[in-house]
Amino acid sequence: MKSLVLAGGSGTRLRPITHTSAKQLVPVGNKPVLFYGLEAIAATGITEVGIVVGDTADEIEKAVGDGSQFGIQVTYIRQESPLGLAHAVLIARDFLGDEDFLMYLGDNFIVGGIADVVDEFREDRPDAQVLLTRVPDPSRFGVAELDAAGQVLKLEEKPRQPKSDLALVGVYLFTPAIHRAVRAVKASWRGELEITDAIQWLIDERLRVRSTTITGYWKDTGNVDDMLEANRTVLETLVPGIKGETDDATQIIGRVRIEAGAVVRGSRIVGPAVVGAGTVVIDSYLGPFTSVSENCHIEDSEIEYSIILADSSIRGVHRVEASLVGRSVEVTPAPRVRAAHRLVLGDYSKVQISS
Ligand code: G1P
Repeated sequence: MKSLVLAGGSGTRLRPITHTSAKQLVPVGNKPVLFYGLEAIAATGITEVGIVVGDTADEIEKAVGDGSQFGIQVTYIRQESPLGLAHAVLIARDFLGDEDFLMYLGDNFIVGGIADVVDEFREDRPDAQVLLTRVPDPSRFGVAELDAAGQVLKLEEKPRQPKSDLALVGVYLFTPAIHRAVRAVKASWRGELEITDAIQWLIDERLRVRSTTITGYWKDTGNVDDMLEANRTVLETLVPGIKGETDDATQIIGRVRIEAGAVVRGSRIVGPAVVGAGTVVIDSYLGPFTSVSENCHIEDSEIEYSIILADSSIRGVHRVEASLVGRSVEVTPAPRVRAAHRLVLGDYSKVQISS
């Protein structure tokens, strides 16, 4: 069995953070979302992985390399423009050959992995298997209608009037039957060849499409609260460890990871929290559910329940809460004092804050 990972697209929904980087590389718990997917694939025993890339190909290839860091072998497949998920399957035909495969959307985040679902598929081998999850806003997704026995009756892409609250999760299991389906479907209203339509084609052909409903699912929505929640979920299972440098004036409480090369002085860190490699934290407080990426500088500041991306600095700010700060951002105090700041800052922004 092989795997096809989709890491193209432009990530318009997570702007401003994705103005300057691939949506699949947005970090959660200081690790790109895509890496959780690749680890989950490796955990199923699949080693041959094709990654479909688009405009952000260079960035993805730089981060993932040949895949050996995950114990997989990666083949990159270039998609010239984002023409849809079924189009990605079409162009990956040579790579996929006649094997069954697991298709994984690189911006999806699934808590608890997918090994069980892949085992189920290997045992039962339906023509296709989809994962579903209940969502509050189904019209943003592909939506499934099931019969009383749980068989998939109908799938609809981003319906105005959803027939259920069961959304298609971005993980699919296919037999080679899907290749006929992706050749048969026509572009949708959004100009894409939809994998949802291809699976519906299998259903119309009376092939067997099985579904499994899961919990613990997240996907980017452009909604910062969702990202902070995903970060919280990941930090809850954080493996603690102090590999960086700390001094006697520093207090570390609870589950905290300080990566090698980080320096923490005169600070109080209450976990779960992670401090990335090369980051310096001085005379500051980092509260629960905070991820500070690599090479940041935090000084005389308080930060809680926030994500700070690489190469940013926050100095003299009391305090930052529920915030997502992009890369290479500078946050400094302005003369007037305010109680709390809530920030959503794109990469390279520079702001002044009263503190
Ligand atoms: C795609 C699929 C949709 C699915 C979603 C899951 O949507 O078309 O059916 O529910 O991924 O992430 P897109 O991200 O292309 O809008």
